[in-house]
Amino acid sequence: MANVAVVGTQWGDEGKGKVVDLYAENADVIVRFQGGNNAGHTLVVKGEQTILHLIPSGILHDNKTCVIGNGVVVDPLVLLEEIDRLKSRGLLPPNTKLYVSENAHVIMPYHRKVDVAREKKGGGKAIGTTGRGIGPAYEDKVARVGIRICDLLDEKVFREKLNRNVEEKNFYLTGRFHEEPLNAKKIYEEYRAYADKIRPYVADTSVVIHNELKKGKKILFEGAQGCHLDVDHGTYPFVTSSNTAAGNASCGSGVGPSAISKVVGICKAYTTRVGEGPFITELTDEIGERLQQVGREFGSTTGRKRRCGWLDLVLVRQSARVSGIGGIALTKLDVLTGLKKLKICVGYRVDGKEFTESVPASLPLLARCEPVYEEMDGWDEDISTARHIKDLPKNARSYIKKLEQLAGTKLILISVGAGREQTIVLKNPFRDV
Ligand code: GDP
Ligand code: IMO
Ligand code: MG
Repeated sequence: MANVAVVGTQWGDEGKGKVVDLYAENADVIVRFQGGNNAGHTLVVKGEQTILHLIPSGILHDNKTCVIGNGVVVDPLVLLEEIDRLKSRGLLPPNTKLYVSENAHVIMPYHRKVDVAREKKGGGKAIGTTGRGIGPAYEDKVARVGIRICDLLDEKVFREKLNRNVEEKNFYLTGRFHEEPLNAKKIYEEYRAYADKIRPYVADTSVVIHNELKKGKKILFEGAQGCHLDVDHGTYPFVTSSNTAAGNASCGSGVGPSAISKVVGICKAYTTRVGEGPFITELTDEIGERLQQVGREFGSTTGRKRRCGWLDLVLVRQSARVSGIGGIALTKLDVLTGLKKLKICVGYRVDGKEFTESVPASLPLLARCEPVYEEMDGWDEDISTARHIKDLPKNARSYIKKLEQLAGTKLILISVGAGREQTIVLKNPFRDV
């Protein structure tokens, strides 16, 4: 029986939330395995929009187990507010359970403060982070000074770790950034209150998932961000601070890699990026503006305008290789409607050489790359009500075929609108990919 990982193939915001919500119907357990509330995953069900930052996108379905895995960094206030918001809207189904890993690291006020202070001080070198403290929280995890959820629940351990951290972080914040020092006692009181509220959700989630696997239940792993924001495989240093590639579904949730049998890559029909960093197919003209407007490309987390450009197959091919993608879910095809000509980037040209399978690691080299495009005719017909491939106009079908050919990977889903139902399902990854 298949367990499926869903990951982004670009720079995030590909529509992972929509696809995970849809696939959750066929799954029993939905697991977030990395990132934190830098993510914003949008679900539109019966016309009602829900944006999730930490809670897995299966949460709107009843009889599911939703897991925030050990690889996630958790801002407790954001989590509690997200739970409350769902509750107050009557959107928490009665038999769906939510668990948070006791090993997940906690985002502390000093993480947010360091994140924002560094970005401010960036002097033209800012990454354009979400300012949620994600990077500094992962830094502490790797430096072995982080506070885990289980530490937060233990008064003595928490106080001791907090004091040590605040002393060190205040030294850095005041000395390096001339920021006001943080008050450990205040943080202690605030976080003790969160601890009591979070306690009922805390579990050894590796064991939770493992027990479900033993019962033959189906697991859906929900990636955040996208492959080119991966700290190893992305456009470093303009990346996030975790591994976003499918391999991390294993480490970030505490199951062996053999448990993950299928990987679905989510790919927007064009490319977007929030924040700084290289973007070879970026359009700063009226077409880019149009994609931004029609696609409503504003960040789901920070509300920032997303940069837009043509579909870039070099990015997608690299993601397919790095994550072992077996099928592509193409989203936002409807946004291309009305464009006379469409371009797909098939390679990067530099110094007489062409990169087609991989993005050059060196940023100075990447900056000199020119996109190589194939051009196709667009379509004018409204496709938002299409539910079968045959409902799509000829040119849309040609675009899809071309994409499959160039990516070397089959499409298994086509999304033509934000709504759960605005989808052409070609294959079920739990069964036939
Ligand atoms: P995620 O971070 O990958 O989950 O993506 P986001 O939720 O941040 O951004 C995707 C945006 O596109 C959201 O506003 C979705 O509601 C919307 N969306 C998803 N699929 C489609 C689609 O096929 N067509 C259109 N027009 N909007 C879509
Ligand atoms: P979802 O899951 C798009 C970007 C930020 C910034 C860089 C580093 O919704 O696709 P960070 O705060 O993580 O240190 O910021 O990564 N970024 C995202 N861009 N979608 C996301 O998540 C993102 N999460 C982080 O804009 O450029
Ligand atoms: Mg998003």
